[in-house]
Amino acid sequence: MRKFIIFCFCSFLILGCNKVDRNSKNYYKNFTYIKDVKKAENKYSGINLGNALDAPAEGEWGIILQEEYFKVIKDAGFKYLRIPIRWSKHTEQIKPYIINPRFMKRVDWAVNLALLNKLTTIINIHHFIEIMTDPDENKQKFFELWKQIAEHYKDMPQSLYFELLNEPCNNMDSKIWNEYLSEAIKIVRNSGGNNTTRILIIGPVYYNRIEKLDEMAIPEYSEDPNIIVTIHYYEPMKFSHQGCSWLKDSTSWLGTKWTGKTSEKKAVKVAFDKAKKWADIHKRKLLLGEFGTYEKVDLDSRVLYTEFIAREAEKRDMIWTYWEFCSTFGIYHSGKKAYRKELLNALNP
Ligand code: BGC
Repeated sequence: MRKFIIFCFCSFLILGCNKVDRNSKNYYKNFTYIKDVKKAENKYSGINLGNALDAPAEGEWGIILQEEYFKVIKDAGFKYLRIPIRWSKHTEQIKPYIINPRFMKRVDWAVNLALLNKLTTIINIHHFIEIMTDPDENKQKFFELWKQIAEHYKDMPQSLYFELLNEPCNNMDSKIWNEYLSEAIKIVRNSGGNNTTRILIIGPVYYNRIEKLDEMAIPEYSEDPNIIVTIHYYEPMKFSHQGCSWLKDSTSWLGTKWTGKTSEKKAVKVAFDKAKKWADIHKRKLLLGEFGTYEKVDLDSRVLYTEFIAREAEKRDMIWTYWEFCSTFGIYHSGKKAYRKELLNALNP
């Protein structure tokens, strides 16, 4: 009887502990952190320095860019650096919407460091939320921004690329976007210097989704060969964005996994094949400008998904820039000054 009681007690402890463990943060495996990484350059690979200059003010979303990041990114084998920038928040209120010189200096600092570290650098207009709600009201501001950015950077080397607008969405439909993008291209090209042939990056509406490529009207290749087309891919959103604070219902998605089963892989391949087909017809190179998983996704799924997406993009000759470096989707822990090894290896094996 005594043995039986001890057995029951032990079983209770084991089962009880399991239950506690499942609900604790330690249920998911932890990352391994590595410093001083040196990797061979992956010619397709890049990363976003997100949640810094694209926040309402730098630091407001927890990230202040540090000088060391640029070298650390280069050393990890990345070739491209996408720097999202919320210009619209840093201008005068009225036409010609002069950009705050201090903010411009901060962007210069980042761009110069990126180029100094031999990273092909992409700057864009990011989180111009107002234009998505009211395109007409913000049309002039969009053009004035490009006039200033183009003028300011026109003598920078060709390894600086301009991306016209991150994720046109909401009321910015294809009809409106096609009109605006065509005018913005003219503004940049007419500004002279290296801008006449600088690479411009342009993506479709509905958050740069692949299914909207067909509605996008950009110049023919023969008219302007220096355009790259960008798409973003976060499917399934219930997986990649589970538990994120900015999407309604996302807590109910917690626990969604990505195991690499045939149907999951097929969804990616079908989407990327569609993009590639479009690109071939239009003779354009593709940039997968954003993909990634939020920190609440379990490690195994994150690694499998990240690796699969990156390799499938490469197979179709797409450059990719992972979302993002050291915030909630991040592959780098700025406090520890170390990479999350499993994620970095998934990106740049
Ligand atoms: C947004 C970020 C967001 C990410 C993933 C980006 O385009 O700028 O704020 O975290 O997409 O949803």
